[in-house]
Parts: sequence; structure tokens; C-alpha cells
Amino acid sequence: MIRKPIITVLGHVDAGKTKFLDAIRGTLIAEKEAGGITQHIGATEVPIEAIKNLSGGLIEKYNFDLKIPGLLFIDTPGHEAFTNLRKRGGSIADLAVLVVDIQKGLQNQTIEAIEILKSYKTPFIVVANKVDTIHGWNVVGGSISESMNHQSQDALETLDTKIYELVGQLFEKGFRAERFDRVKEMTKEIYIVPISAKQKEGLPEVLMLLAGLSQKFLEKRLSIHVQGDAKGTVLEVKEEKGLGKTIDVILYDGSLKVGEEIVLAGKNGIIKTKIRALLEPRPLDEMRSPQERFRNVSEVHAAAGVKIAAPGLDDALAGSPVLVEGSGSEREVLEEIQRVKIDTQEIGPIIRSDTLGSLEAFIKLLEDRGIKVRKADIGEVSRRDIIEADAIREKDEYMGIVFAFHTKVDEAAEKEASLRNVRIFRNDVVYRLIEEYSQWVDAEKNKERLDKLAKVTFPAQIRIIPGYVFRNSKPAIVGIEVEEGRLKNNVSLMGKNGIVGKVQAIQSDGKSMEEAKKGQEVAVSIEGAVAGKDFMESDTLYTHIPKRQIQMLKEVIDTLSSGEVELLHKIEKMEEAASQHDS
Ligand code: GTP
Ligand code: MG
Repeated sequence: MIRKPIITVLGHVDAGKTKFLDAIRGTLIAEKEAGGITQHIGATEVPIEAIKNLSGGLIEKYNFDLKIPGLLFIDTPGHEAFTNLRKRGGSIADLAVLVVDIQKGLQNQTIEAIEILKSYKTPFIVVANKVDTIHGWNVVGGSISESMNHQSQDALETLDTKIYELVGQLFEKGFRAERFDRVKEMTKEIYIVPISAKQKEGLPEVLMLLAGLSQKFLEKRLSIHVQGDAKGTVLEVKEEKGLGKTIDVILYDGSLKVGEEIVLAGKNGIIKTKIRALLEPRPLDEMRSPQERFRNVSEVHAAAGVKIAAPGLDDALAGSPVLVEGSGSEREVLEEIQRVKIDTQEIGPIIRSDTLGSLEAFIKLLEDRGIKVRKADIGEVSRRDIIEADAIREKDEYMGIVFAFHTKVDEAAEKEASLRNVRIFRNDVVYRLIEEYSQWVDAEKNKERLDKLAKVTFPAQIRIIPGYVFRNSKPAIVGIEVEEGRLKNNVSLMGKNGIVGKVQAIQSDGKSMEEAKKGQEVAVSIEGAVAGKDFMESDTLYTHIPKRQIQMLKEVIDTLSSGEVELLHKIEKMEEAASQHDS
């Protein structure tokens, strides 16, 4: 008996992994995902008959002697945050499909996926997706070889250019690759299959290759793990009518029977329980969002996606390993939980999430941005989290916050947060959460700047216009021209011999103004100054800026023009000279 090979689909975000599986299943899952990205691992079983059907006669044509009962496809998220889910997908794969957007070539997460595959020595094929976006491409559907016969010379040339770019990029990563129909040595070259997941082109070739390669090279590997201790990963924890909380598991090794004891991680520690029922999804159904009811079985063999019903699964954790009760299984599960949770004294945010996988992914995303995490845990946001965040806020206002990723905030926490004004960021899409946070930080910093700007004295240089002394004193009223900078009310003016008085009002054509800009000619009243004594007609005056304010101005120096910056330096020198003179 040989098991189904596990085929993991890997690639950069938006390369079309889910769409590729949709094309095989005849489903529309990619369209329905939150934020248009995959955030959990999914599983789909494709029976061998379906593969034969979809291969459009290619499998018969090449006369493969297929014994495998089908393929188990694993969909993984491409977004950068999900390294750990990709790793898990990669580590359980027998064979992988690396999906590349043909217009974009290898991207960051494609390269990361290649590294993962290299480290596990997993064989893979490359699918160059979205050929329909090639200029002038005629959509034919079905076999890509057939479709290539219907393309213009131009379109075929573009295709080949793109494929050779890929070949070059893969070579740099240490792999020899070729377009599938030019591969001469199947053990030494990687197959590149151009496809369109959207237009269902090239699927026959991909399926034929996956089935053929599995049969040819993996038969031994596939026949040894069918019996023996079960090893699996919890994909999701779900409430099911009549069954209570159940777990969706990918069983990648061994077999499971009804009545057997299993060990897995729960929110409050290890869960040990006895399997009450095993339910298998229908073939061609995505386990994450099945279209049809699962079927009851008494035993499952790897590789399979299976729903397990058992007592005590209420706080089971997605992302946890599932092992058959036995020596060391408990320790193995505990280590996995401890590896992900964080509890430190760092000045950083608090994170809550519903699964181990997403928690780990989110921590990584923050750490990549240089943010150290204070605490990361499974479950709802609690009142204690809020109190802790509030304490962190005293030290750094941008770090005293809570992230709730795919989880709830309990009522007491909600109340505490609004009392203490602690920010909780919540979103079910991981990158949106980060975006919201950085937008908030930017807005807060901007506000802080504006507050600073409102308080600061800007530099100004003004010239008294000869013949425009309207009043000599109490207050002196004169016509001036702003030669540089901006003059505002309530600033003190200084001349060669120190401070002359304070600007009380600025007017132009009889109207009061808040501010006069460079080049404007206005009337100003200067309190405390006597024209002809404190300053003369045609004198130049400057705003007096105390040392502390000069410092503040330097913090927002990018809001000053180059002329203003120069003037600020001049004023700074004058202030220094004056203070030396005074002392
Ligand atoms: P993640 O799960 O977030 O990593 O993305 P993914 O690789 O699963 O990509 P997905 O299947 O969600 O597709 C991303 C976008 O590309 C969607 O808008 C698809 O409709 C589009 N797309 C996928 N395949 C094709 C294709 O063959 N041709 C064209 N034109 N668009 C495609
Ligand atoms: Mg996807």
C-alpha cells in the first residue's frame, strides 16, 4: 500500500497558489479570502481518477504506471509574515510546486521557499503562472503545449524571454531548470511549466508531472510511513454541529484510529484525549472551506486531511503538532508551545492571537521592523494586558499598545482600555494590522510636530522702510518689509544693541494678520520700543529666539526654507554674542 504524496504549493504572495488549486478543484476560494491572501495552511485531496481526467489524456499518453491513490495538496500563505507556516508546509512535503508570477520572476518569498525546499531536500517543479498576461496571448485552455501551437511568434518569444530569465535566476540559486518540454535529464533539471491558473491552461502538464515524478521517484518514501505512530499538524479548530469543537489535521505520517489517544497543545497546556470520530473531507474539497459534508471513517492513513472529533478540544491550538500518546510525545508538544510564546521585560507591544502559527508569524513581522515584543500569547486580550501596556506607555508611548490578531478583546479589557486610553489594534489580516499601527505612529508623530511648531518662534529678518514711521512710541508703529523668514505676533525683536520690543500686531491694508511672510510689506506695532531711540529708520531687526526654542526649531528644521535655515544660524550667533556680552 502506498500513500498519497503531499504536494506543497509555495510561492510569493499573489503568485496564484490558491488560484492554481482552485483551477484543479473547480472552486473559487482565492476570491473569498480575507484581504485576498491565504493566512492558514489548507489541504485538498485529489484522487487519481480526477488527476487522470484533468490531465486530458496526457497520463495515458505517457503510459505512466500509476499506483499512487492521488495527491494531497497543501496550500500555504505567500505573505512574508508566514515563514513558519511555509516551513511547516515545506517540511511535510514530499514534492513541491513553486508558483512564480511569470511577469515578476523570483521574488522574496519565492527565494525563501527555495531555501526551505533546499534545506529539506524536497524535489520541486516550477509553475510559471499568469501566461495569459503576456502581450497578445491567445487563451486556448487545456494543455499548454497545445496552447503554444496557437500563439503568435511575438507571444512565444516573450514567453521564452521570461522563461530564460527564470532559468537564469534559478541557476543563481544553484538549480538547473528548463522549460518542461526541453528537459533532457529529469533527475538533474527542474521542470518549468508555463500555466494560467485563471484560464486553466497548463494544468494537464503540471498534474502529469506531479503524478509521474511521485510515482517514479517517491514510491519507496511513500510506502514506508503508512503504518506506525501518527504525526500531524492542527490546521484549524472548528465548532461542528453535533460534534462540539473539532480539529482539522494534516496527517503526514503514520495512521490514526478511532479510540486512540492523542496529544496536542491547548491554550492552557497539553491536551490528552481519545479520538471519538474521524471525518474525511470529500475529494477535491478544500478542507478550510468545504463545500460538502465530511465522511465518517474508522481509520485514516497518511497523507490525509482529517477532522478529529474528541472530548476536551475546546481550547485546542491551531498550529500545534498532533501526536499519538506515547513516550516523548508530551515533551515534543510542550516544546512547540514554549518556542512560540514570549514573556519579557522589553519596552514593546503586547500581542494576542488565536493560533500558534499566526502568533509566530506576527512576532516575526514586528521583529523585522525592529520592534521588540514584550509579551506574545494565545487567547483573548485581557484586562491585565491593558494594564501592562499602560505601564509600558509611560516609557514609550508608541510601544504601550496591544495587538489583537484574529482574536477578541474581553469585556473587562475593553473597559480598561477606554479608561486608560490604551490603543488596541485589531484586524484579521496580518499586514493590515502592521499598516494600521504605522499609520497611527505617523499621525501621532505628526501631531507632536505640529504642537511643537505652534509653540516655536520662527526666524524673521525685517527692514524698517524709511519714511514709514507712523507713530514713535506706546506702541511704535512702523512700515516694514519681511526680508527673510516669517514674522508672527508676540515675538520679540532685536537689533544691533539687543532687544527693542515685542510685536503686538501686524496689519496690512488696515486688516490684522497672524503672520507676514518673506517679501510682504506690512505695518507692525512694536510694544516697548521708541522709534528713533531703540531703532532707526532703515534699520534691520531680527526675531529674538531663546536658546531652548532654537533647539526646538532644529528638530523641525525640514519645515524651514534654506534662507530661513541660514537666518536661524545668523540669529543663533547673534544670541550667543549677546549672552556673552551680558555676562
Ligand atoms: P497568497 O495566498 O496571498 O500568497 O496568494 P496566492 O499565491 O494564493 O495568490 P491568489 O491565488 O490569491 O491570486 C492572486 C491574484 O492573482 C488574484 O487576483 C488572482 O485572480 C490573480 N491570478 C492568479 N492566477 C492568475 C492567472 O493565471 N492569470 C491572471 N491574469 N491572474 C491570476
Ligand atoms: Mg493563497
